[in-house]
This record gives sequence, structure tokens and C-alpha cells, in this order.
Amino acid sequence: MNIFLNVTVVGLGYVGLVTAAGLAQVGHRVRGIDVDSRRIALLERGTLPFHEPGLDELVAANVADGRLTLEPDLQAAAAGADVIFVAVGTHDGNGGWQTDSILASLLAIARHAPPGSVVAVRSTLPPDSLDRLAARTRKARQAEQPGADLPLVLNPEFTREGTAVRDFLAPDRIVVGGLDDPTGRGTAVLRELYRSFEAPILAVSGHDACLTKLGSNLFLATKISFANELARLCDRYGARVDDVVEGMSYDRRIGGSFLRPGVGFGGSCLPHQVAMTIRSFREDGDDLPLLASVDHINEHQRTRFVDLLDRLVGGLAGRHVALLGLTFKPGTDDLRDAPSLPIARALLDRGAAVSAADPMPAARRRAAEIVPGLRGVDDAMDALVDADAVGLVTEWPEFRALDWSAAAVVLRGRVVVDGRNALEPDRVTAAGLRYAAFGRGLSEPAEAPAPVAVEAPAPEPGPARARPAVSKRGVARELMPKRLRRAV
Ligand code: UDX
Repeated sequence: MNIFLNVTVVGLGYVGLVTAAGLAQVGHRVRGIDVDSRRIALLERGTLPFHEPGLDELVAANVADGRLTLEPDLQAAAAGADVIFVAVGTHDGNGGWQTDSILASLLAIARHAPPGSVVAVRSTLPPDSLDRLAARTRKARQAEQPGADLPLVLNPEFTREGTAVRDFLAPDRIVVGGLDDPTGRGTAVLRELYRSFEAPILAVSGHDACLTKLGSNLFLATKISFANELARLCDRYGARVDDVVEGMSYDRRIGGSFLRPGVGFGGSCLPHQVAMTIRSFREDGDDLPLLASVDHINEHQRTRFVDLLDRLVGGLAGRHVALLGLTFKPGTDDLRDAPSLPIARALLDRGAAVSAADPMPAARRRAAEIVPGLRGVDDAMDALVDADAVGLVTEWPEFRALDWSAAAVVLRGRVVVDGRNALEPDRVTAAGLRYAAFGRGLSEPAEAPAPVAVEAPAPEPGPARARPAVSKRGVARELMPKRLRRAV
């Protein structure tokens, strides 16, 4: 039999709101608090401050059923709580960590948490902050209620933006780490809370839980950078990365996920956690060479994408490039560490005009503020009009399904560079367009369409440039190292 608990969630950002709505959905009575009263008012009207598929319905349904209430005051919301979650941000907005907000939340909770309650941290924490946060919380609690315990556990989230609701409700595993839980009561209450979930619950130390979260993200980042390096091998030796990864994926020790090459990983977690882990080690005079390479490869993918466009249009100065996608991945309006931003900046720096399409209006507005000169449009076809080249940066379904024959009519040039290996090369080349991607080489149209001029690269914007020779395996000679060009 399930026992439903009283839960309070402090901080209604991505992580907190998904936690609050998800726990309400499985039957718990949840009170969500945020210091931002405008956010509370918006949520009560059913408007989310960000885009997350399915979350608006989940919030609305649980608010309507009375299982989820939203309020601005911690003291009131903490009354009667069995578990108090903390899900406040730990980014400093500048590529670093900040723990001031979480410390302030923990100290306030230590004052107001009812006897018998448990505190669970959902935010991602820097590993060197755990002991200090636990000690400060314990001290504050003792000052407030001498002798009363307040177990503190770390319960990291592993949800992805765009699929956060599904990831929360059907997790692969639930990790509960004791930050200050000498009797194990905190872990036992969390086991009760997640009783209806099928996933295994791993009870570990606080440091183990922190490193499980960090280690998972660092490994995912490593897989992506490995895939990007593998794609270079494929391009050099004339293999197709999709087939290579598929072949590798049958090996159960390897698996096939997170091995898709492209313009690299973005978002609020992976780039930040890789960079911060390296930085923390460097500050202690130590280094992490594998992660440093992961970071370097990821950064370099953006330049490689711009270089590829540059090469295929015969020089970017004076060209018009249409970018498809701004958000760091589909299904979100998040631009944090989105590869589109440095890519757009680099294109503009090299003298190109840039039109960028994205289905998320908030992302278009914000991108135009961050990258002056960028023209944001909502429809892919609008971006494509008179473009010399197209660069796919985010694999939104509407871009994958684009009608390339219609696109070819409005485009001025013939070049499509797929920065996510998400398009079907045959559909692009069938429209008379050239297609290039990472680890997929360059595919030329079967037959050059009538109006395409075959000429040397011109300095001015104009029709398509000369087509490079293609090897038997479909890899353009110009993409190959000189040593191999002689062989084809
Ligand atoms: C990540 C973790 O996956 C999640 O467990 C954690 O809780 C938060 O951080 P998220 O940032 O939402 O989630 O996105 P994710 O799906 O991991 O993708 C990260 C980036 O990697 C995206 O830019 C995506 O496009 C890119 N990616 C992903 C690749 O380039 N190749 C791949 O094969 C997979």
C-alpha cells in the first residue's frame, strides 16, 4: 500500500517544477515555493516560464486536483512537511558554481522545518561543498531546535530537458546519498516517497551520490566527444559514422546512445560540469587530461562546422547562411551554452549574413539580443530565401521533415551542412543540393540541376560554386587528407 507524504519543494525552476509536479502526479501532496511571486502567479494561470513538453499539463492537472499548490512563503509551506526538497540554482551564470542560494535555502529550512521532517537536495552540487553545506545546516538547526535531528540527503536528478516529465516518472535509477543522515532516517523516508517507482533505489553516501550525478554527465559528454573524434576518422578513411556506430552498438559493453556526432553538446549541465570539474582540479594544481580533451573537442566542433560551411561556399565573406535551430537541443527553449550562438557569431565575424530559424519565439528573441546582427525568423523557408548555404544546428522535427525540393527553389546556393547528422542525405541530394555532415562525408546531387553554375569560387554572393570531385565512397576529395586524395 502506498503512503502519500507531504512534500515541500523550494525553487520552481526546471528541476524543482518537474520534481513538484511529478511527485504530485504519483499521489503525494506537494507545496511548491518560489521567491519569485510573478512566477507563482504565472504558474497558477497555467503558464510555464520555460518550454518543457507535457509539464504544463502535469502542473495544471495537479493544481486542479489540489495535490499541487504553489506559494511564495517557505514558513507556511514547510508546516507539516515530511520531506522538504531544495532545487535552487547552483550556476553563477558565468560558467562557475555558486552555493550562496542553496546555503540560504538550507539555513531557512533549518529554521522552519517541522520536527520529524527530512531535507533532500535536488540541485547539482559541487563536490567540495558537501561537508560545508551539511555542517552549516546542522549548526543552524541546533541553534533553532537543540537536540532535534534534521536528516539531510542528496537526491540528484537525471532528467533531460525536453523529456523531463518522462525521465522523472520512469527513471533508470534513484540515488539517495546521506549528507547528514547518521541514523538512516532520511534515506528511509525517501525510499517511502519513491515506493511506487519501479526503478532501483541506491542508498549511498552523500559524496557517492554527488559523484554519481557528476560522473554520469561527464561520461555522457565523453561519449559525444568520442563520437566527434570517431566521425573524423570516418571522414578520413571514407567510412560512414552511422553504420560504424550501429555496428559498435551491438556490443553490450558499448551501447549506441550518445554517440551521435555533430556541433557538440550544449545546455546547462554537460558543458558547465565538464568545464567546472577541470577548473576545480586546476585550481588545486592538478589536471584531468581526458576531460580537458572532451572539452577541447566539443569547443572545436563549432569551428569545424563553420570551417566546413566556409570551404563549401568558397569563403563566407558576403555570403548569406541560413541556420536551422538555435536552442541547444529540440524540445526546449533553452539557449544556455547552445552551439548556435558561437556558430552564429563566427559566421558574422567572417563576413556572412545570418538568418536563423527556430520554432521557439523566446529563443529567437534572446539569440538576437545575445548575437547582434543575427536575424531570427520562425519559419525555416523564410530563413532559406536567397541563402548561399544552410546549416542545421538543432534537429527540430520540422527541420528534419523539411521539403528540400521546395527549399532548393528559394535557396541561392546549393550547400547543406548537417551539424546534427539528422537529415536524410538522399532527400537533400535528390533536390539537387550538396550535403555534408560529420562522419558522413560529402554527398553530391545525383544529377546537377540545370541552373547550377559550375565555376570557381566567386568573392561575391552568387550561385553555387564548383563541385568537388567525389571518391568512390562518396567522400569529397577536398575533405580528405592530401595523402589519400592521390589514391582515389
Ligand atoms: C543532461 C543529462 O543527459 C541529464 O541526465 C542531466 O540531468 C542534465 O544534463 P540535457 O542537458 O537536458 O541533459 O541534454 P542531453 O539530452 O543530455 O543533451 C546534451 C547535449 O548533447 C545536447 O546539446 C545534445 O544535442 C548533445 N548530444 C546528445 C549530442 O551531440 N550527441 C548525442 O549523441 C547526444
